[in-house]
Amino acid sequence: MDRIRIRGGRPLHGEISISGAKNASLPLMTAGLLTDERLVLSRVPVLADTQTLGLLLEQHGIAVEPVGQDGHTLSIGGPITNTEAPYDIVRKMRASILVLGPLLARTCEARVSLPGGCAIGTRPVDLHLKGLEQMGAVIALEGGYINAKAPSGLQGATIVFPMPSVGATENLLMAATLANGRTVLANAAREPEITDLCDCLVAMGAQISGIGTDRLTIDGVSSLHGAAHQVIGDRIETGTYACAAAITGGELHLQGGRMDHLGAVMRTLSEAGVEISETATGLSVKRLNGLHGVDAITEPYPGFPTDMQAQYMVLMSVAQGASMVTETIFENRFMHVPELNRMGANINVHGKSAIVRGVPYLSGAPVMATDLRASVSLVLAGLVARGETIVNRVYHLDRGFEHVERKLAACGADIERIPG
Ligand code: UD1
Repeated sequence: MDRIRIRGGRPLHGEISISGAKNASLPLMTAGLLTDERLVLSRVPVLADTQTLGLLLEQHGIAVEPVGQDGHTLSIGGPITNTEAPYDIVRKMRASILVLGPLLARTCEARVSLPGGCAIGTRPVDLHLKGLEQMGAVIALEGGYINAKAPSGLQGATIVFPMPSVGATENLLMAATLANGRTVLANAAREPEITDLCDCLVAMGAQISGIGTDRLTIDGVSSLHGAAHQVIGDRIETGTYACAAAITGGELHLQGGRMDHLGAVMRTLSEAGVEISETATGLSVKRLNGLHGVDAITEPYPGFPTDMQAQYMVLMSVAQGASMVTETIFENRFMHVPELNRMGANINVHGKSAIVRGVPYLSGAPVMATDLRASVSLVLAGLVARGETIVNRVYHLDRGFEHVERKLAACGADIERIPG
């Protein structure tokens, strides 16, 4: 298994090109199931997760073909020949559940392995299933699989989510584009990735209003057609590299980064002493003087994203003073804390909150990545720590961050991948 070795202490300077958003690409790729015609997606990041989803689509009979040399443009299309999403693929990536809505809408049946728990909590899919049932699907859970049928097709319905769920909103949104009649999704999630999916669906012929709000109204149409769509930039990658510039005391230009997608993160970082300004092509980020402790609480968009919590905590671990970081979206999402403490951080977890008392420096150590965002937080810690850090289990990192070591090394970091 590959590892990453970092020798910390070098300020980062230069430019990092922000990749297309993983969390936008995955639902966009599953939208390819909604038509037999070609959906051409550009700026798709080359990551383990997008490759896994490509394999899943191929399993359903859909061709996923690269256009051009760089692998970032995919042409997706073809008739669905198999409606089963097998355990072996779904277990690798929970977002595989996003094929359920499109498959049901297109073929009136789907058999999708239940995603299990994951490192950051139980993560149920009840909201996806209840919503589809409200739209007329008959769902049975058997042998670890979701068996879903909609013998008379899906019907429009008004679905009020008890809490915003990104995945459930996306699944039901896609299902609703081909349902009979009008569907209203209320208290829907409104992450930029959902807006991106809406924009693509509209380009495919879907009728959606309320885009960008927590109330989406979808009037079903009889079929969708092919389209070309460019994936938005990855706001979590942008926020992560903004933390890298701030923590090392350098200055980075994040090409393609967007302030409007990062709202709460940018506000919190600037309160903590990080200067972020918009440029013609992205964002420029540098630390002003010292960093100081500022509280953060994770919330659905436009609040502070749970996917930035671990990275922000690293920043706070070397800030002056204390801060409280509260996680409200996922249980068990503090697994990076013991690893950071092994590097000399002073973090105490009390239920959903972590008290971070800033320390003057971190020390390099061998550490273990536990999930995607936790693993990149350990890389950030390694960039600022004295001495050498080895991050083990980097396959987590490869699921969501494109060429992380290459991008950081090009800006002056002493970082390398050790194949293993
Ligand atoms: C997506 C993102 C993930 C991010 C998360 C929250 C993708 C591929 N992944 O995950 O990176 O951390 O949003 O921003 O886009 N819940 C239920 N029942 C359900 C569905 C969700 O109780 O049926 C709960 C979850 O356990 C969690 C909360 O709702 O506590 C939010 O989860 P959700 O927004 O659905 O996250 P994902 O779509 O899985």
